[in-house]
Amino acid sequence: MSRSRLFFALWPDEETRERLYAVSRALPDDCGRRVARDNLHLTLAFLGGVDRALIPGLIEGAGGIRVRTFSLSLERLGWFKRARVIWLAPKSVPEPLLRLVAGVNGVIRRSRLRVDERPYDPHLTLVRKAARPLQELQFDPICWNISDFCLVESNTRPAGVEYKIIESWPLS
Ligand code: 2AM
Repeated sequence: MSRSRLFFALWPDEETRERLYAVSRALPDDCGRRVARDNLHLTLAFLGGVDRALIPGLIEGAGGIRVRTFSLSLERLGWFKRARVIWLAPKSVPEPLLRLVAGVNGVIRRSRLRVDERPYDPHLTLVRKAARPLQELQFDPICWNISDFCLVESNTRPAGVEYKIIESWPLS
């Protein structure tokens, strides 16, 4: 059985990506390992290793999700001690984002895959292997207009992780 490591995500447009990376660059160089600019994303649901035969069902299911476009304001910068990541997150979670996460979790469940039952805590990882808390950093909140979501495959290569968008769907 061939498996792929999959997750559903929001993939930033070019302008948002640039603004996200500008915040990352403003962090001290020794704070950890910056996520590559082109890899920045916000995970909706992480599936882990999945039998590739299930991918068509996931694609069909996700195509049936109906959520309107929305904007997300990323204004909190923080650090997860255990995961050792520095992240950006919204102050409050917009209702359409929760509906989108519920939608993809429904699709995952219908494929008989395990869903993360913990409350959804959206965060966009800027830095990995971050061993210590952050110092204050002033930055303008990043307003991100979300108009689509995608299913992504993650592959670990010698040069680092590589993400491939398998399929993306517009919001309504
Ligand atoms: P992270 O940025 O907090 O590590 C691909 O690995 C994406 O899935 C990342 O955005 C990662 O979030 C997220 N993810 C969620 N749960 C994960 C897990 N158990 N293992 C690896 N990645 C996970």
